[in-house]
Amino acid sequence: MITLKKLTKVYGNGPGALTVLDNLDIEVAPGEILAVTGPSGAGKSTLAQCIGLLERPTSGQVIVNGEDLASLPERRLRVARRRIGTIFQSASLLSRSTAAQNVALPLQYLGVTPAETKARVAELLERVGLAHRADHYPFELSGGQRQRVGIARALALRPSVLLSDEATSGLDPETTLSMVALLRQLRDDLDLAVVFVTHEMDTVLHVADTAARLEDGRIVEQGRLVDLVTDHDSVLGRALQPRPAAAAPAPGSTPWALSYDSRAVPADWLQRVSAELGEPLALLAASIQSIDGTSTGTATVGLRAPAHQAAAAFARQGLHAVPVRTAGPDPVSTAVPRATEELQWA
Ligand SMILES: Nc1ncnc2c1ncn2[C@@H]1O[C@H](COP(=O)(O)OP(=O)(O)OP(=O)(O)O)[C@@H](O)[C@H]1O
Ligand SMILES: [Mg+2]
Repeated sequence: MITLKKLTKVYGNGPGALTVLDNLDIEVAPGEILAVTGPSGAGKSTLAQCIGLLERPTSGQVIVNGEDLASLPERRLRVARRRIGTIFQSASLLSRSTAAQNVALPLQYLGVTPAETKARVAELLERVGLAHRADHYPFELSGGQRQRVGIARALALRPSVLLSDEATSGLDPETTLSMVALLRQLRDDLDLAVVFVTHEMDTVLHVADTAARLEDGRIVEQGRLVDLVTDHDSVLGRALQPRPAAAAPAPGSTPWALSYDSRAVPADWLQRVSAELGEPLALLAASIQSIDGTSTGTATVGLRAPAHQAAAAFARQGLHAVPVRTAGPDPVSTAVPRATEELQWA
């Protein structure tokens, strides 16, 4: 369990002082992965460093398993830090040490016996699926494998919190997905509270249980993924579920942008709306995904019915519907009105 209370970080002082984290309140339960996202310079890495106490917060608390780490003197902090494992963008392995030797480092540093270290390293490499690469050097490993060694090393001291700062950035989509699957497995097996910093929305959707959006050092949105994605006013929710480009509607019909979740909308909404309006609906675009057992989707449909009738029929099925304004002669280029520029953080 990790709790941040009024966490504030100011770099410098006097007129040049820069408040990078401003009064953050965050809680991550055991078995929960919180994705922290936001534009470059928002303070994500600073947040990760303050949680890991690599940077001292200027004020506020970093409470791990009931103890406020931010208030500890340096000597006790070194011990307390073992409760927090960290993985970075580049796994930062020692290049002249094998995978096994890299994972063994934190254990040797603590004076764990060679026999115990050997057994623990074997168990950790097995857990991250790299038992067969124990004696390989970092240059003999793929980027994804190096990250797995980094994860094994981060877990060596049995932390209860895992911090990851852009650990999947720069990996190809397939490797990212396998890292994400590993992290979710570890979260379940070890009941870890995970803080996962990333600017990749796709990865957030795959890895996280909850997400927070940081902007200028403040949390502007946070919540469960499923709630964010189904909240029509959520900037983060829209970024997480981008709407696919729609095909052109038939002449004389109006495109409508719909969104829905399976808790409120029957699975056969398309047929129901069509039956009520007495006309077929043309499906111009659709995307659907399952989060926490709830299906959430967006669709663009084209139909001829007058706007007030269509709006009423959509509303009756629990659909959120907005007619798409067709600006200009090219209907294909008329995107659903949304602030795309604010969603492009990558
Ligand atoms: N040691 C430091 N001294 C002074 N300012 C710093 C320091 N570290 C970071 N900053 C400033 O704090 C702000 C937040 O930086 P941070 O690295 O946390 O952003 P970020 O959200 O991780 O960005 P990115 O997505 O680019 O990694 C930036 O304005 C940065 O210049
Ligand atoms: Mg960063």
